[in-house]
Amino acid sequence: MVITQPPTSYLPSIAKTATYTSTQLLDALAYLRLLYNPEVRGSRRIRSNPTCNQDVLAIDAKWRFGDDDSHIQLIRSDTFERSYAIRWLTALVARMEDLQASIDDTQLESTSAFHGPIHPEILIQQAASLLAICAGVSAAGTVERTFSFGSDEIGRIDIRVMDIPIENQDYGSVGAQTWGGACVLAEMIVEHPEQFGLRFRIGKDRTGGERPFRVLELGAGTGLVGLTAAKVLIASSARKNRRATIVATDFYPSVLQNLKANIDKNFPGNLSDGAITIASHFLDWSKFPAMSSVPDLLSKPFDVILGADIVYETEHATWIKKCLERLLRHPSSSADCPSEADSLAIFHLVIPLRPTHSLESSSIETAFRWTDDTPREGHPELVILSRDTILCEAYRGGDAKKSSDVVEYRYYRIGWSW
Ligand SMILES: C[S@@+](CC[C@H](N)C(=O)[O-])C[C@H]1O[C@@H](n2cnc3c(N)ncnc32)[C@H](O)[C@@H]1O
Repeated sequence: MVITQPPTSYLPSIAKTATYTSTQLLDALAYLRLLYNPEVRGSRRIRSNPTCNQDVLAIDAKWRFGDDDSHIQLIRSDTFERSYAIRWLTALVARMEDLQASIDDTQLESTSAFHGPIHPEILIQQAASLLAICAGVSAAGTVERTFSFGSDEIGRIDIRVMDIPIENQDYGSVGAQTWGGACVLAEMIVEHPEQFGLRFRIGKDRTGGERPFRVLELGAGTGLVGLTAAKVLIASSARKNRRATIVATDFYPSVLQNLKANIDKNFPGNLSDGAITIASHFLDWSKFPAMSSVPDLLSKPFDVILGADIVYETEHATWIKKCLERLLRHPSSSADCPSEADSLAIFHLVIPLRPTHSLESSSIETAFRWTDDTPREGHPELVILSRDTILCEAYRGGDAKKSSDVVEYRYYRIGWSW
């Protein structure tokens, strides 16, 4: 179902919530979630052991965006509608808590407000978390999202990023929002930090001293990937006392501004002990390769470069290759003092396969040769080391067997061959 009505028309009246079944109330909550806290499309990897409540997923799956979400943006930025939603949620939580306190579990089953397959505790949890989100949505239509990732090694990592509306419907400002590819890459980083060089590696400078480990994000948008890398490095540097610098770059003015705000939000006053630093910086792929002087922050090579959903025009892959040639740590730049870090300098790229952009997606394999196809000519060349496919649900609760409900990503590892 696509949202057509504002909360004042769609939600059941507050006075009557007690007469609704839990399924009807969950439907209203799914409607509010799509309106005020939409999940990033294509961000949920298809796994063989789903952990979510299947009934809740089925209800969420009824709701989705239409072709044009400008109508939703209007409703979302309407202050009156949002305060009505907040009052509705507050009343729902209060009513549910009262009912829960006044009757025992056996009576709950036979009470109409709780009649249905969903335990009331789930309704209370969902309504309470939506309340916090609605309070944070601004009149300008921005959406604040909290992404939570976790692994046994790193523990749980929370990242808060603000999505701002695409500027005047200008396609150039697409980085104002977080894209599914960024969610997928961030999750992979947390689950396998060692594959991104974010664990146990200490680079050496030419004098044998430890140099900061350097991470760059290209086309960072809201910064989810770079912020995740920073938090993972903090989690592992606590044990290893390692220094690192993360630079998240973009070229669109309002996107860069939002990127900086997101860094400040996650790391107020930047990072406490100075061992790990993160900063945003301007970098335009089309101009950087020809620049005669390079800004300080970008002047030293990077050990890891990350990119999510940054190839969607035919020139992008070629521009990015030229940037990498200048920015990715070169095997010869540390020949005096080779270390594990030098041999693993890699560009990690995740792109969605959009049926409308197949030429752009295939441009990566035109710009970069495969490692096996590369004749050794004595000088290093950037090549594709590996390519994997990742499948995600297009939206929560989608049918993984229907291709329209699945988003396919390609994950490339690109590095030096010599
Ligand atoms: C589809 S968005 C992806 C943003 C983010 N990586 C994510 O996945 O959420 C593409 C990003 O590339 C940036 N971009 C596009 N062309 C660029 C260029 N020539 N130089 C630098 N960044 C560029 C955009 O500003 C935008 O932030």
